[in-house]
Amino acid sequence: MLPPLITGRKSHCDSKLITYHELSVLVSGGIPSGWKVVASSRYARVCKREVGISVFFKLFLPRTPLEGIKAIFRGSRSRRFVQGTEALLKAGFLAPRVLCWDESFVMAMMGRGWVLTEAIDGRGVLDSWRKLFPANDVKDIRRFVDEVAIQVSALHNAAIAHGDLRLNNMLVAFEDKNIKLFFIDNERSRKHSRLPFKERVKNLVQMNRDALNEIPIRYRAYFFARYCRYCSLSIGERRRLIEAVEARTRHVLGRAC
Ligand SMILES: Nc1ncnc2c1ncn2[C@@H]1O[C@H](COP(=O)(O)OP(=O)(O)OP(=O)(O)O)[C@@H](O)[C@H]1O
Ligand SMILES: [Mg+2]
Repeated sequence: MLPPLITGRKSHCDSKLITYHELSVLVSGGIPSGWKVVASSRYARVCKREVGISVFFKLFLPRTPLEGIKAIFRGSRSRRFVQGTEALLKAGFLAPRVLCWDESFVMAMMGRGWVLTEAIDGRGVLDSWRKLFPANDVKDIRRFVDEVAIQVSALHNAAIAHGDLRLNNMLVAFEDKNIKLFFIDNERSRKHSRLPFKERVKNLVQMNRDALNEIPIRYRAYFFARYCRYCSLSIGERRRLIEAVEARTRHVLGRAC
């Protein structure tokens, strides 16, 4: 029998995807052989298996001491991650599939949990940008920016707000000439009946924070123009939106300094 700290139900995990040994090492903060640690925020530990089936393991660490209490009312971080991912997939967006996850009550009460997801062969939008720019020609760069605008506007047109739309929470996979965009970190993503203005602003600010120092103004402006067009925003709405995004970005960056 599995100790309760490791997994709620063993049946959730196919041993071909992850062995009990790997799981127990990962849950206790170690690295099994064949795995490597990937850079992540301090509230998570992300590891990737490099031999056999390529998968990502994400261990959630409590963001606040109240994480356990929050789990009682809103579900554990792993449960929210699964629900957020499912909502996106159901609406037709791309996201790495969750292969198995932790459901243990004890872990949830400690503000912890984990998910195992399929690995996407790609890199984040910001990392892809660093590779693409300035080596590629303007046409390729604009196509890339346009694809991001298409996906983000489609998400918002579907009344879905992403919980943390940092640029590297969108993974870019190049397939021949096509660009595929996968949304990750879907723990706080949510479908609304109508997308609140505040949520639209929040997502654009999350993107803008990363973009400000790295992406030249002409491409940021191009993204914004395409995004507004795909969202069918009027001139007045565009103006109101850009003002709100600028003010909020300034506020958030000021607070971060
Ligand atoms: N399924 C996946 N396929 C490919 N790469 C992934 C996958 N999951 C995570 N990654 C990579 O690992 C990085 C960190 O993972 P993730 O974004 O889930 O954690 P985080 O943002 O640091 O955590 P937090 O939820 O606390 O903000 C990602 O930026 C991405 O490069
Ligand atoms: Mg992330």
